[in-house]
Amino acid sequence: MSDKIYDVPAAWAQRAYLDDHGYRAKYEASVRDPEGFWAEEGKRIDWFEPYTRVKNTSYDPGHVSIKWFEDGVTNVAWNCIDRHLDARGDQVAIIWEGDDPSESRLITYNELHDQVCRFANVLRNRNVEKGDRVTIYMPMIPEAAYAMLACARLGAVHSVVFGGFSPDSLAGRVRDCGSRVIITADEGLRGGRKVPLKANVDAAIAKAPDAEVDHVIVVKRTGGTIDMTPGRDVWYHEAADLVTSECPATPMNAEDPLFILYTSGSTGSPKGVLHTTGGYLVYAAMTHHYVFDYHEGDVYWCTADIGWVTGHSYILYGPLANGATTLMFEGVPNYPSNSRFWEVIDKHKVNIFYTAPTAIRALMQGGDAPVLKTSRASLRLLGSVGEPINPEAWEWYYRVVGEERCPVVDTWWQTETGGILITPLPGATRLKPGSATRPFFGVIPQVVDAEGNVLEGACEGNLVIADSWPGQMRTVYGDHERFMQTYFSTYPGKYFTGDGCRRDADGYYWITGRVDDVINVSGHRMGTAEVESALVAHPKVSEAAVVGYPHDIKGQGIYAYVTLMAGVEPTEELRKELVGWVRREIGPIASPDLIQFAPGLPKTRSGKIMRRILRKIAEDEYGNLGDTSTLADPAVVQDLISQRQNKK
Ligand code: PRX
Repeated sequence: MSDKIYDVPAAWAQRAYLDDHGYRAKYEASVRDPEGFWAEEGKRIDWFEPYTRVKNTSYDPGHVSIKWFEDGVTNVAWNCIDRHLDARGDQVAIIWEGDDPSESRLITYNELHDQVCRFANVLRNRNVEKGDRVTIYMPMIPEAAYAMLACARLGAVHSVVFGGFSPDSLAGRVRDCGSRVIITADEGLRGGRKVPLKANVDAAIAKAPDAEVDHVIVVKRTGGTIDMTPGRDVWYHEAADLVTSECPATPMNAEDPLFILYTSGSTGSPKGVLHTTGGYLVYAAMTHHYVFDYHEGDVYWCTADIGWVTGHSYILYGPLANGATTLMFEGVPNYPSNSRFWEVIDKHKVNIFYTAPTAIRALMQGGDAPVLKTSRASLRLLGSVGEPINPEAWEWYYRVVGEERCPVVDTWWQTETGGILITPLPGATRLKPGSATRPFFGVIPQVVDAEGNVLEGACEGNLVIADSWPGQMRTVYGDHERFMQTYFSTYPGKYFTGDGCRRDADGYYWITGRVDDVINVSGHRMGTAEVESALVAHPKVSEAAVVGYPHDIKGQGIYAYVTLMAGVEPTEELRKELVGWVRREIGPIASPDLIQFAPGLPKTRSGKIMRRILRKIAEDEYGNLGDTSTLADPAVVQDLISQRQNKK
């Protein structure tokens, strides 16, 4: 923990919507009278029919139910596009920066309207209706945004699958939500390398014959050679030529689903996190407004991929609901050079920049020079998201990138929360490097011990949220029981985040990371169980246990203990083969960083793998293994330790 404190810069205190006093007063009002507070805030979006009921939520065990603005009628695409047309039809809505620095495009709100309507009509012509699920497996090109907004316009539910996922992962997600339409591109382009998206879609459909995919809509990005299946596959540009650019926005109830986004948990396959219409948009728009202190005319850039929740809430929905100019970047931070982020900031005069600690750490390793050769004069605010940011990376970001004039907002939230829950507000909050600081309006964090006792004052324990906020997920798609079990059964009556945290004497929150079997690799969530089941699917593997371990750049790396089938030799080739196998099964983000061949795994007498011990060994903390008295065979641990030491 760093004990440094940074005051709000004078320039910020003047321009920001809220100072510290303003924050405290508004926070107090939000928790004293949530009904009244959100009744007002709900008006930041347009409603076709106003709501009369604001909050109807229950965390009661067995009856969890979350509804906000439930009788209101609106449409998300209308709010993100149509309502801006009179005042700012010619303003740029999306700045697109291609992988290749010579490629960029400016898309005005008027053009966005035309493009989204066209896309919606292409979907409508393929019988996509309100409530239908549509899978989007796309690179970071404007058409990905058009496709999402087109679904929202029609009331179809999009499920965006990150373009780095394998055909298997894609197939599982397509099958789970029963989507009959997939939107993709011929190939993606990242760091000069091509990603075979359409070929992956073909492979996914072949793997999921029961999935009943009727239509694959293919956007041309690279022009690479792909197979088209007649009757099923269509080029987007050909289909779009046949339709008009007018398409009415379907009236949607506030609680109608907007999207599903699959995310990893401790157990089982990824869960389809379901977000709905009204509360989600109000919350995304409001957090974008206050956390980034967004003002008219600001150029805002979030570097996330549209395949993650950060891309949904803070590239697309929050900024566009606020009529902002949002930058969408196809490439990677180190292509063509380590200066790319900063060059893009100069090229498009970016004011607000939001990225992940893993990118900051990687760039920090390249030294200050690639940053210092750029101006960054337009920058006013820096943001961080996705994983704990270590104080060294925070300081570098603040000092070198932001030249000590840009506050850093370290925003803590999750796919499940829809928007930011714990964060500084740049004009209001004194900053401590590494702390996400204080709760956003309406959010009631609590720290509890293992028994669920609520801890007071400075303390350390597990992070729960005591009451609902409008951006909260509503259910796990198709499995409300799993929703209640996963989030509301550990501490009945409270939402359990899965994160550990400390609260200091100033009431600041310091997120310490996951306390469940989820690891956070480069800001991407990965269930250890998923990697394990990929490994044991290999014919030479008999058993596998996966844990996270500290990694300088990725935050956490993937450490896999693998027991081979009897008679199989542990070789370097096999190690490589297994890494490649997991990449193919799940995707490159799941590649194990270290594989240790283990003749046996530490288990209790009832056969349960003792991951706590495996974690300690992976972290090199042999002296501190904790209680080992329940081990069935203590020799196994000694064996693993000496192997680990030999490897160093
Ligand atoms: O462990 C927390 C970590 O990321 C998890 C949520 O991951 P995901 O659903 O993929 O969403 C990531 C983007 C919102 C959390 O449970 N996390 C996210 N932001 C932070 C963080 N940990 C520490 N500090 C953060 N600012």
